[in-house]
Amino acid sequence: MAASTFSSATPSKLCSCKNGIFSSSQAIMLKPRSIHLVVKENSRKITCQASTIADDRVPDMEKRKLMNLLLLGALSLPSAGMLGPYATFFAPPGSGGDSGGTIAKDAIGNDVIASQWLKTHNPGDRTLTQGLKGDPTYLVVENDGTLATFGINAVCTHLGCVVPWNKAENKFLCPCHGSQYNYQGKVVRGPAPLSLALAHADVDDGKVLFVPWVETDFRTGDAPWWA
Ligand code: FES
Repeated sequence: MAASTFSSATPSKLCSCKNGIFSSSQAIMLKPRSIHLVVKENSRKITCQASTIADDRVPDMEKRKLMNLLLLGALSLPSAGMLGPYATFFAPPGSGGDSGGTIAKDAIGNDVIASQWLKTHNPGDRTLTQGLKGDPTYLVVENDGTLATFGINAVCTHLGCVVPWNKAENKFLCPCHGSQYNYQGKVVRGPAPLSLALAHADVDDGKVLFVPWVETDFRTGDAPWWA
């Protein structure tokens, strides 16, 4: 308890102590330490008291640190949950694992299952799927009913139109400027300067996997222009 004295020169309403001079009505509002003064005035007892409750209500440093950590954790978890999908937005889609390939997707975005594909696509079929880097890529069914080991990129090497397969002509015919490619995508008429790009079409765990083609172009015997 703080030492205190009472001034007889101000008998009516003033108390004095080392915390200052104050009236009896103000005593409880000053420094929040345990102060307990008793003043006698005209046979009337005046009690000045300040409680230590105010001190008790201020958390100590350890409690403040704990509260800060809890607050930080509460803010960090939702933030991480939002940043995760945001970061994956910039990752290349359709990663196919360690090989650097891409699982082929059908017209509605489902993985192409080789066995199911062959049940619904006849020999000689060429149907567009989503291939490497999202490029439209033909999945080829050979005449013996098996999947070809290569896919054909459908982007015209002239100015980039998507080239449709013409079954009657047994060619890919570009509608933009008339370029033509044979059944394997080799250019047979310009203005397209180059054959359609190739990709390996492997079967991995039952799914068709496109893998970059970096070997010699078997159609021309040249190095792959797209690699
Ligand atoms: S874009 Fe195909 S011929 Fe021009």
